[in-house]
Amino acid sequence: MNTEDFDILKTGIDYLDNAATTMKPKSVIKAVTDYYKEYTSNIHRGDYNNSIRADKEYETTREKIREFINAQSKEEIIYTNGTTNGLNIVVFGFMQHYLKPGDEVIIDQAEHASNSLPWIVLSKKIGFKLVFAPLDKDYKLTVESIKNCITPNTKVISIAHITNTIGDTRDINNIGKLCKENNILFVVDAAQSIAHTKIDVQEDNINFLAFSGHKMYGPTGTGILYGKKFLLEKIQPIEYGGDMNTEFSSTGDYSLKELPTRLEAGTRNIAGVIGLGAAIDYINSIGLEKIHNYEISLHQYLLEQMKQIPNIKIYNPSTQGTIVLFNVDKYFSQDVAIYLNQLNICIRAGNHCAKMLHEVIQDNSTCRISLSFYNTKEDIDKVVEALRNQDKILDTLV
Ligand code: ALA
Repeated sequence: MNTEDFDILKTGIDYLDNAATTMKPKSVIKAVTDYYKEYTSNIHRGDYNNSIRADKEYETTREKIREFINAQSKEEIIYTNGTTNGLNIVVFGFMQHYLKPGDEVIIDQAEHASNSLPWIVLSKKIGFKLVFAPLDKDYKLTVESIKNCITPNTKVISIAHITNTIGDTRDINNIGKLCKENNILFVVDAAQSIAHTKIDVQEDNINFLAFSGHKMYGPTGTGILYGKKFLLEKIQPIEYGGDMNTEFSSTGDYSLKELPTRLEAGTRNIAGVIGLGAAIDYINSIGLEKIHNYEISLHQYLLEQMKQIPNIKIYNPSTQGTIVLFNVDKYFSQDVAIYLNQLNICIRAGNHCAKMLHEVIQDNSTCRISLSFYNTKEDIDKVVEALRNQDKILDTLV
């Protein structure tokens, strides 16, 4: 679907690593180069036409994002450099001042480093308890599992909407309800879901949501932190500098601007943010629901084919989504990736930055195929054929 919008896909690659990053459509690349070619300037600081145009484009993206996730106001949309940055602002800018020894924070073992390591570090510093909600027999996280972990001390639940390995979609609507009923803050890592399925931060009772621009067809180095306004106002910035202050003096007095600028110190990734606005337009022009339905059917096709290939272990055969996590018997995952690379097929191998998952699936390293709407059945046939010819893996390596 819409493959023609992506010049890079005409170079002959079979790109199946979309959970790592997505390709950029022509319109996004144009928006970025237009800024560099036609109106490069800083924002919030210039009284000339190019700067005024940059301001307008930069702030328009904020409104597009607000609408995309149904935030209440533009002040709730903070530009970051990616999901990791957003989650670190939540953990070290807010939770560090909110959590106390004896409090409990629920995460799980399938979380990416960005939604686990900051919590691990802060729990050591403060002494709150990090509770790992058990995954079910298919390595999925259920509402029931989370419910069973809630105690009167639970202050936060922080989970991925969709993980980058098992790829299961967590029922954030019902988990959000649980949080509301129990007065728990709900933090959602939407890095792997934002480009694939609808999120409504109000409907889902989400307090903080973080995602990256580069996984939604936008530029690298861009991201969004959404937070309910009253919570964002309580964040102590983890960066201080230009633009975010109203005044400061040698006496040590200072004051900060209102949201969102108070959390956006220094010159931001202006070109990237403008490109991200074009990415939102692009997704909207196709329709997220159409993207979602197409990806689900493509994934189903992939899964059915892969299940028929001998000597392949699939870790998430019951997951509906875009990810297939697997290993080929007798072969190290990276050797499989290297073999596929010889055929111009791009997949990811390793632990996928989800370094606790092996505690559950008992394998340290896996291969991952992750799809996007611009993938086709032909892309899948190609990788399936290559995996059927698995006896050739050894030839590649010697
Ligand atoms: N988090 C990215 C991935 O899953 C990089 O590959």
